[in-house]
Amino acid sequence: MDKFIIEGGKKLKGEVQISGSKNAALPLIAASLLAPGNHVLTNVPNLRDITTMISLLKHLGANCSYDDATLKIETDNIRGDDAPYDVVKTMRASVLVMGPLLSRLNHARISLPGGCAIGARPIDLHLKALSTMGADITLHDGIVEVRANRLIGSKIFFDKITVTGTENIMMAATLADGTTVLENAAREPEVVDLAACLIKMGAKIEGAGTDTIMIDGVKELRPLSYKVMPDRIEAATFMIAAAITDGDITLKDAPIDCLDSVILRLRETGVKFEPIVNSINVRGLEKPMGVNVVTSPYPGFATDVQAQFMALMTIAEGASVIKETIFENRFMHVAELNRMGANISIDGGTAVVKGVKGLIGAPVQATDLRASASLVLAALAANGTTEINRIYHLDRGYEGLEKKLKTMGASIERVPEGV
Ligand code: EPU
Repeated sequence: MDKFIIEGGKKLKGEVQISGSKNAALPLIAASLLAPGNHVLTNVPNLRDITTMISLLKHLGANCSYDDATLKIETDNIRGDDAPYDVVKTMRASVLVMGPLLSRLNHARISLPGGCAIGARPIDLHLKALSTMGADITLHDGIVEVRANRLIGSKIFFDKITVTGTENIMMAATLADGTTVLENAAREPEVVDLAACLIKMGAKIEGAGTDTIMIDGVKELRPLSYKVMPDRIEAATFMIAAAITDGDITLKDAPIDCLDSVILRLRETGVKFEPIVNSINVRGLEKPMGVNVVTSPYPGFATDVQAQFMALMTIAEGASVIKETIFENRFMHVAELNRMGANISIDGGTAVVKGVKGLIGAPVQATDLRASASLVLAALAANGTTEINRIYHLDRGYEGLEKKLKTMGASIERVPEGV
């Protein structure tokens, strides 16, 4: 397994191009299953999760080619109806093929995802919604089988806000009989991006970006041709990289409008922002102020930025309280940050971070994607050398992270397995 060796203490300076969004691209790739034909997605990031999704589509019978951020998918002969355990266990977003497969083939078999590093993450709300729409659902040998000759447009209330749940059901509803209304729907920008693409394919959708989405089923959809939105979580991570290194970074093509809550909190710490055409300049400071954060669904502070923000708070002036409300086990980075000299204590879903003078480089373990990003940020600010093991987690969701950081002056090396 590759590791990173990071020499901390360099102020990052320069420009960074924000890549296409992983969490927008994954449902968009799944959406290609809804219509036979040739689909084209551009601005698709080169990431492990994207490769996994492409492998899954190939397994289902699609032909895919990926080059220079462009993904071509041909879906004339979709024969497979299953997302096998090997794929689902490496990437839970595989469940996004369930809605499209059910609409296209009238059946789908999805291996049930188990727990993962950040929590239990069930898919009961996806299944409850499909059942309301008339699907028969059976469970055997860890595989959930869904069947429906025709899905019926229905009123669905999500007991809890779910991003991929909203996306799955929105896709399934595009080809259902009649009107589906999703209440307490996720408002995440990636849901809006998917709706915009589905509308371009001929779907009738209103209200994406609000908590009520209305979908009028249509008979068929056209193949998609769509540019994936930029990655707001990658952008937030680079903003924090500027903040934590007292750096000066210009983010190109960052989706600033989707980052209000992160920018607000970072401004409170003392970070300076200056929007430029299609870019935003971010300047850090020697000692940020401690600021409290509570994660919540969009437009609240994203759980996917919690770990990175916590890295910044470790060296802040005073204490900060960080409350995680989305996932029950998303503090795996805490023990590792403490190894680097941070002073963080956890009580349930709340972490109290007492700012220290500085972090000290140490060997640490990456545990999940965003926890890994948090360790990279901490290492960039730390005194001395940090060795981050298990960085395959980062390759799932950050395109060319070390190259981008190096261009801005970071001392970061990838050491391949066995070296
Ligand atoms: N939940 C249920 N039942 C369900 C679905 C969700 O109880 O049927 C619970 C979850 O256990 C969790 C909460 O609802 O406590 C929210 O989960 P959600 O379904 O919104 O998460 P997700 O759709 O599986 C997406 C992102 C995650 C991101 C979350 C929250 C993708 C592919 N993944 O996951 O991204 O953390 O929304 O914003 O869009 C990441 O990129 O690192 C990542 C984990």
